[in-house]
Amino acid sequence: MLAELSSELIVEVQHTANLLVSKQRICILTGAGISAESGIPTFRDKQTGLWSQYRAEDLATCAAFARDPQLVWSWYQWRRQLVSDKTPNPAHHALAQWQQHAGLKNQPLTIITQNVDDLHEQAGSTVTHLHGHLWRNRCSQCGMLHNGANNKNSSNSITSNRNSANNSATAHHYNEELLNCTDCGGYIRPDIVWFGESLPIEAWQTAENAAANCDVFISIGTSSLVYPAAGLAQIAKQNDAKIIEINPNPTPNTVVDVTLAANAGMVLPALVKQISGLLS
Ligand code: OAD
Repeated sequence: MLAELSSELIVEVQHTANLLVSKQRICILTGAGISAESGIPTFRDKQTGLWSQYRAEDLATCAAFARDPQLVWSWYQWRRQLVSDKTPNPAHHALAQWQQHAGLKNQPLTIITQNVDDLHEQAGSTVTHLHGHLWRNRCSQCGMLHNGANNKNSSNSITSNRNSANNSATAHHYNEELLNCTDCGGYIRPDIVWFGESLPIEAWQTAENAAANCDVFISIGTSSLVYPAAGLAQIAKQNDAKIIEINPNPTPNTVVDVTLAANAGMVLPALVKQISGLLS
């Protein structure tokens, strides 16, 4: 596995593994880049990123939904379709393995994600979602969550559950017809945090506590442009944590101590293998 990395990167991975085994509390923040190797587009990568093809103002704000709920709903149904057959890549699997290992040794390893996909969970990790869930809906008016029922035969089901899509294989069609709340009649929207909206309080508290109390903070596959998530590295740094970044491209994150400049799917399996070797 190390053989796939450049000699410089191998040395950096070994140093990073040495650093990590000497520390107790690890906090990890992931972004769209960790799911890129599963075939899910990021937001800001040139040409392939969603925000290079679509305007966030038209699709990911409350004002956009109020103006044109049909357009916004259709776009999220299209995204569900896009993600429905995607599976975890070696980066997700490596993190899950590391978290499981750390748990057995009673070492806290908190994974926080900005991603709305469920690939971390599919790989077996326990994760805090800062930006919501692609597979969940809620009422735009009364806030009632609409999830749970798995009606795989009804493409018009209020739940756009991933399992219902998988059960009917890739042919599943995510109906673009707008849905109404069974309680108050308001339009159903995806349970995703849009620009200008607050993060879920509990998830943010978990993230902030983990960042403030960690020995090492690892930022993986995020452009570090969207706050408050991007501020977690600064919170960790203020509390004397070492900051590691895994990203093939530079970011504006100025508090980074160690950069592993390569794809997460290449670096993380090698890093976790090194850590396991050092611990056994
Ligand atoms: P971005 O699209 O802003 O950034 C993705 C980052 O992943 C970039 O820095 C890439 O260089 C990096 N990257 C690409 N491929 C990678 C790979 N294989 N391994 C590691 N890194 C890779 O995505 P986020 O930072 O997650 O908000 O964006 C933050 C938020 O902005 C998202 O959660 C979303 C978006 O608007 C909501 O949906 C609310």
